[in-house]
Amino acid sequence: MNNKPITILAIETSCDDTAAAVLRDGKILSNIIAGQDVHRLYGGVVPELASRAHQQNIVPVVDAALKKAGVNKHDLDAMAFTIGPGLMGSLLVGGTFAKAFALGLNIPLLAVNHLEAHIVAHFIPPLPSPSFPFLCLTVSGGHTQIVMVNSLTDLKIIGQTTDDAAGEAFDKAAKVLGLPYPGGPLIDKYAQRGNPHKYKFTQPLVSGYDYSFSGLKTAFLYFINNQTKLNPDFINQNLNDICASIQHTIVSVLMFKLKKAAIETGIGEIAIAGGVSANSGLRAALEAESVKSGWRIYIPEFEYCTDNAAMIAMAGYYKYLDGDFAGQDSSPVARI
Ligand code: KG4
Ligand code: ZN
Repeated sequence: MNNKPITILAIETSCDDTAAAVLRDGKILSNIIAGQDVHRLYGGVVPELASRAHQQNIVPVVDAALKKAGVNKHDLDAMAFTIGPGLMGSLLVGGTFAKAFALGLNIPLLAVNHLEAHIVAHFIPPLPSPSFPFLCLTVSGGHTQIVMVNSLTDLKIIGQTTDDAAGEAFDKAAKVLGLPYPGGPLIDKYAQRGNPHKYKFTQPLVSGYDYSFSGLKTAFLYFINNQTKLNPDFINQNLNDICASIQHTIVSVLMFKLKKAAIETGIGEIAIAGGVSANSGLRAALEAESVKSGWRIYIPEFEYCTDNAAMIAMAGYYKYLDGDFAGQDSSPVARI
């Protein structure tokens, strides 16, 4: 039997974070992320600037990940990268780098779906992993989905947003309040000091397990415009309560469909993933529901909630074990 450890380098460049990680035998040895401050000036991710920043960051980030892991590139067994979904220009930088690196070292490529990787983040030690089947609420800046995970190769989306993603709802509400991008973490910060029941916003009605956030975004914009006409200092004077109220509404919308799915499928193993799973209100609501309904809940560590390459490495590792390799002809897919 061959006992040589499996060592994988993974990179993630689907949006505005350039990330690299090294995994050995299912354990993460390093996890490096370079954010891109350039987008703050524009109040959102500018795709062209994101591609250029990835191009600048990718070599130093990979170098840092290998150094931190104490791994020489000649010890690598495979190269994992994000094939999509994401911004095409950003994916192309990572995909091209991965192909060249794999070709140069004569190692196989592992093409990873970004959303599956957010779910596979639950299998990174040391936290306990969910058992199959489980439901995963994947909530990020680009996606909002309830996924039924029967196994790591059998994932079914049973509900998703029909318009904006939950992270987008947070970021757009923050923008209306004049907060810098990405506003989600700031809304979370101010919400912790505010009254979540001070202002009420109508919750959207959508069928099945689907979501909609665009109506809420518009209602919030009108509410803020009307209030600031009456009192130009309304935002400053009530920032904590406004943030707490909008966060409470978004979290209630997310939880309502998740509860419906848990009841109707009879599944009590419940996980959350993606950037918005870092939200303290969502974490608290999930914990409260687990006490009430007897759910076993799984919340990733903060560093594995938002975009990172450790999750790409873990998903790549499972692909490696399955012999599911990608060719040099594989190309990024913006929408999967
Ligand atoms: O998964 P992610 O890093 O990137 C995508 O794949 O989109 O998610 C980023 C999103 C952003 O919309 C950001 O505002 C949101 O996650 N986010 C949060 C928090 N931390 C990140 N939203 C609310 N509360 C947070 N603490
Ligand atoms: Zn993501």
